[in-house]
Amino acid sequence: MPILAGTASEPLAQKIAEILHEPLLTRTTKRFPDTEFYIRIHDDITNEHIIIVQTTYPDPNLVELFIMQNAVHEAGGKKITVVIPYFGYNRQDKKFEPGEPISAQALAQLISINASTIITVDPHKDHLLQFFTVPAYGCSAVAEIATYLKKKDIDFILAPDKGAKNRAKHAAKIIGCDYDYIEKTRIDGTTVTMKPKHLDAKGKNVAIIDDIISTGGTMAQSIRELKRQKANRVTVACTHGLFIGDAQQKLTTAGCDEIIATDTIQSNYSTVSVAPCIAELLKKQVM
Ligand code: R5P
Repeated sequence: MPILAGTASEPLAQKIAEILHEPLLTRTTKRFPDTEFYIRIHDDITNEHIIIVQTTYPDPNLVELFIMQNAVHEAGGKKITVVIPYFGYNRQDKKFEPGEPISAQALAQLISINASTIITVDPHKDHLLQFFTVPAYGCSAVAEIATYLKKKDIDFILAPDKGAKNRAKHAAKIIGCDYDYIEKTRIDGTTVTMKPKHLDAKGKNVAIIDDIISTGGTMAQSIRELKRQKANRVTVACTHGLFIGDAQQKLTTAGCDEIIATDTIQSNYSTVSVAPCIAELLKKQVM
């Protein structure tokens, strides 16, 4: 089952290919002067089941995916499994006001046109998988992140909110430490307190685990509170590190000791790879 690497996910596609002992397709990619994307696949893929690996964030990478799917189809590929390490727009998964779109659904439907199966990592909400019109499966990077944190002497895992509690519980079980979630309490119109719901962070090496770090605002607020409560080291870990604008600076200024993300979006903080969990899911669902 040959693998076609999108330009947003080359190192990850390479790692998945190594784990599965599958070949990477040879292809030429370029951008025209007007920035439009071009790809040509050099191998004969007639009647082959092809795995495309491409993160769909930011938007130009989504267009690349559509064009790669068409290239595989036009070259006679029999089936296409699309691996989307980070599915952009996944936080726009419902309408908040009348007249709004469900953007994640719109894109999932388009991606499904030239796909037989979809694989993604830590979708923001489970119901996102149902937006695809072909079978879609998600895997979680939490085990890989926790395995990394275990080597870092972490003794307390925190979720930034109640909704993310199960992720913290899963990581804490692997590490063998306590977990909790941060509760936000509004005191008055301008004052909000944030602290672990049940446990005390004083003197602990804490890791806060979330699915996404975008502007870094959620994490920075949590870090400040934990430092105020005399936590020792504070590490932040996420699956999808978007690190928009001055996010990294915001985290460091708040007192963050280490930033950890995965390679669903390649960055300087991609210390953990999701290749093992994607490879496992591919073996289970499509190979
Ligand atoms: C929210 O539901 C997500 O799980 C993240 O907590 C959020 O997207 C992080 O965004 P930011 O880094 O901009 O605070």
